[in-house]
Amino acid sequence: MKIAIIGAGNMGGALVKGWTKAGMAADITASAHTQKTLDRLVEACPGINVTLDNRKAVEGADAVVLAVKPWLVQQVISEITPELKDKLVISVAAGIRNERIDVYAMPNIAAEFGESMTFVEEAEQAEKAAKLFERVGQCKVVPQRLMGAGMMLAGCGIAYVMRFLHAMMEGGVEMGFYPDEAKQIAMQTMQGAVTLLRETGLHPEAAIDKVTTPGGITIKGLNELDHAAFNSAVIRCLKAGLQ
Ligand SMILES: NC(=O)c1ccc[n+]([C@@H]2O[C@H](COP(=O)([O-])OP(=O)(O)OC[C@H]3O[C@@H](n4cnc5c(N)ncnc54)[C@H](OP(=O)(O)O)[C@@H]3O)[C@@H](O)[C@H]2O)c1
Repeated sequence: MKIAIIGAGNMGGALVKGWTKAGMAADITASAHTQKTLDRLVEACPGINVTLDNRKAVEGADAVVLAVKPWLVQQVISEITPELKDKLVISVAAGIRNERIDVYAMPNIAAEFGESMTFVEEAEQAEKAAKLFERVGQCKVVPQRLMGAGMMLAGCGIAYVMRFLHAMMEGGVEMGFYPDEAKQIAMQTMQGAVTLLRETGLHPEAAIDKVTTPGGITIKGLNELDHAAFNSAVIRCLKAGLQ
């Protein structure tokens, strides 16, 4: 399937890089506002096609992914409308609706490494769009009422996970590790926790029981998190951006 990506910044660029790693470079045409962005993208993704002309980008594509800032979506659609006949139009722009958009999707920037958690809103062509996003990570097709929650958990969630990782780093530095060491330790610990849950299918609390000795030190730290209302803070953080 030939894909045109309009807008090749943080999100559009991550999708292009992820799809390139999945062996799809020859099927991709990306456009951006400046040549500098396109030059950088071609360097990272040999074999893709690029153009500054949005209408040219869309010519010959089967699917068009809109990845410009939300306030530019309407303008870009008006510009490319004559070329859109029979094409699957997917938007990843947060919070923007337009009658010409067939499928609303919410990936995250880990798409660059094939690790996105993408939400696709239920629609006639949702499964077709989901197949594209499955090439750059995991993808869930959900009803419209869950798209906001999906965006907070996964689109924005990646930032919250970074913040937790940074907090672990700061603790590590206070206890005597250099920042780089603390970062590596925090990342490997996080990766270990995720792998453990993936491999065992355990509920997180059941996994916690495995490392928590009665009267030991792990429970002291867990209870400190409870005293600081950690769970409540995370839940409030996730709900803060819901419209
Ligand atoms: N960042 C995320 O984590 C994330 C996650 C999910 C969804 N989104 C959605 O993705 C969209 C883009 O966000 P972003 O963070 O990737 O923004 P960004 O980094 O600013 O990228 C926007 C891109 O659009 C290009 N552009 C600007 N005007 C254009 C035009 N008229 N025609 C074609 N391309 C044009 C820019 O080109 P230049 O680089 O040449 O200026 C840039 O490459 C937003 O709607 C956002 O809601 C973002």
